[in-house]
Amino acid sequence: LHDRGMQQLIPIVNKLQDVFAAIGKHPLDLPQIVVIGSQSSGKSSVLEHIVGRDFLPRGTGIVTRRPLILQLYNTAFLRGGGEDEGGREGGREGIPEGKEWGEFLHRAGERFYDFMEIRDEIKRETDRLTGKNKGISAKSINLKVYSPHVLNLTLVDLPGITKVSVGDQPADIESQIRAMCLAYIGNPNSIILAVTAANTDIANSDSLKLAREVDPDGLRTIGVLTKMDLMDPGTDAADVLLNRVIPLRIGYVAVVNRGQRDIDSNLTIREALRKEAGFFKAHPVYRSMLKQCTTPTLTRMLNNILMHHIRDCLPEIKSRIQAMTMDVGRELEALGEPTTELSRATLGGTMLGLLSRFASTFQSAVEGRGSFAA
Ligand code: GDP
Ligand code: NA
Ligand code: MG
Repeated sequence: LHDRGMQQLIPIVNKLQDVFAAIGKHPLDLPQIVVIGSQSSGKSSVLEHIVGRDFLPRGTGIVTRRPLILQLYNTAFLRGGGEDEGGREGGREGIPEGKEWGEFLHRAGERFYDFMEIRDEIKRETDRLTGKNKGISAKSINLKVYSPHVLNLTLVDLPGITKVSVGDQPADIESQIRAMCLAYIGNPNSIILAVTAANTDIANSDSLKLAREVDPDGLRTIGVLTKMDLMDPGTDAADVLLNRVIPLRIGYVAVVNRGQRDIDSNLTIREALRKEAGFFKAHPVYRSMLKQCTTPTLTRMLNNILMHHIRDCLPEIKSRIQAMTMDVGRELEALGEPTTELSRATLGGTMLGLLSRFASTFQSAVEGRGSFAA
């Protein structure tokens, strides 16, 4: 993964998740990130740049034809490293250090270490249900990606909104795809990446119209302008980025993803990000608005939203841990032990370990240290 900001969230979320594993409940339900937008507006490309790996089928025309639910799992967390053995989803057996791989729900137990194969399998599985002639299906493909470089997050890639049916598509394709999108973005615990290609008219943006239906105040919608490199010379998106056209509470971010030629020539994500940064820095208008530009900026915005979400969950987490500590104290007393710090420490340190880890996590989260402050 390319972005430092997201990287710094990983240990904090992992620590909290360690605590939850011990409590046996999961109050930290991280929001899922859902991309919507017109066909070929760049949705799959945006997701790929966020994850920092090449593995989603992309291209002109309708490529994404079934929802893809992509669950990222941090393997450092799964491997563990702490004292608490129980309760972890998945366990730590058979998790090779430093390796990244994918697993499909429809091919349970098989590990795909080659991300090109993951892409091929997505295509194959799409075709299996929808045929090869542009058909669509609301039945999702579920892919888990295990990596030490990701946050435990769920991302959803969706077919693009399209008006006219082609190939094997149903006559009511537009309403079918809209329904599919609404099913995911209707979940109040989702963050909507409303993608609009900058070389189209924002006033006609399908994604913003759809997002508005479920999030009228724009509290969980980020406007993402793609294809900034393809705008007509002499025009720019400054007004949109400055939130003057269709205002959103969180606002907009402009990106440049890989064009078809970049994809065909196997331009790496790293290279693409360098090119993107260069584009905005050299631009006479955007270079003074870099806070609204580039994929790392988008990742940071997501990061901040996630951090706020975590902060909102902290009071409940804290009170649960306090209740748990009191229970332990009572148990110790019942055993005839004085409940001193020392006797607690001799318990094996599990509870104290959890508490101190929680305390430091809580502290840094509340103080907004590291990348979360911005
Ligand atoms: P989706 O249909 O919305 O998922 O869009 P894709 O991610 O599949 O992209 C559609 C096409 O647009 C592909 O050929 C991409 O290479 C191209 N594309 C996406 N984003 C950009 C961009 O920012 N600039 C350029 N030049 N092309 C882009
Ligand atoms: Na496409
Ligand atoms: Mg797509």
